[in-house]
Amino acid sequence: MTARDIADALRVRVTGRVEVDAPLAPLTTFRVGGPADVIIEAESEDDLRAVADLHGDMPIAIVGRGSNLLVSDDGFRGIAVRLGRSFRDHERTDRGLQLGGAVQLPAAARLTSRYGLTGFEFAAEIPATFGGAVRMNAGAHGRCIADVLSWASAIDLATGESRTLDVDDFGYAYRHSELRPMDVVTRGEIVLEDDDGKEVGRRIAAFLRWRRENQPPGRSAGSVFKNPPDDSAGRLLDAAGMKGARAGGAEVSEVHANFIVANPDATASDVWTLIGRMRSAVREKAGVDLEPEVLFLGAFPEVEG
Ligand code: EPU
Repeated sequence: MTARDIADALRVRVTGRVEVDAPLAPLTTFRVGGPADVIIEAESEDDLRAVADLHGDMPIAIVGRGSNLLVSDDGFRGIAVRLGRSFRDHERTDRGLQLGGAVQLPAAARLTSRYGLTGFEFAAEIPATFGGAVRMNAGAHGRCIADVLSWASAIDLATGESRTLDVDDFGYAYRHSELRPMDVVTRGEIVLEDDDGKEVGRRIAAFLRWRRENQPPGRSAGSVFKNPPDDSAGRLLDAAGMKGARAGGAEVSEVHANFIVANPDATASDVWTLIGRMRSAVREKAGVDLEPEVLFLGAFPEVEG
């Protein structure tokens, strides 16, 4: 089946939007890279099951906020799946909040201020969807999703299987979960404590201020590399002299050395090249092999080592 055949078959079954040969760059914060063969915005669990039933041999990629994603300039020969508006709902529960997979974390943090709940202030500065954050155990300021999550539900797009997992079943570690590669997180519950909403709002404002002062504006994917145990990728890259390093339109930020800012003329290939240089520089200077936090979609040239 061609991409067009699969898109036609999907359109018969799903309520969400299905596009063929559609650009992925606008769906990412780097805003570079080529198109996907098919993009589907799922509006129900049935839509997701339809993808599982109909994708055939085509690879699938799950795209959340796109804030941790580099798409190849050649694009992605497969089906990119996003959660649509109907997954952006929330519900106040006895012990916290139930959130749809497409809820943006900053919006969820604002809700906690509105409801007078504390424990999720850290999420205000993380540009991720709740589903993406559950998958990668996103965090900031020493807190992470694993600290607040009670359970989450996922649908495996490889098989169509639905599961609800307790937080202990996620195999959580720093920026890591054991979810299956094709699991889409559709919803989950976070457990929070009661507090004065104004105080919560003040702490959120302080985190946002910290971010403005310590991380660059512009088109980036946040931290390029994970922090190695007991050290900081930003500090190591800074010490290796990488601030201001450039490859084409991609530049290591002068504000924070673990951020790449994509200028308007940047390509995915520029970002890829710069990531390789950053990694080599820290390997040579400090003997540390940094592990990328950014995920890569589509084909990129092989890198030695
Ligand atoms: N540092 C430098 N030079 C730099 C950047 C940082 O010397 O160019 C030093 C800082 O002075 C500080 C240390 O490195 O002593 C750590 O830096 P920072 O406080 O900025 O935190 P980080 O470890 O670089 C982590 C997360 C961020 C998160 C912040 C705040 C990772 C990889 N990054 O950054 O998360 O916002 O803490 O909690 O864990 C992300 O994951 O995309 C992300 C932005």
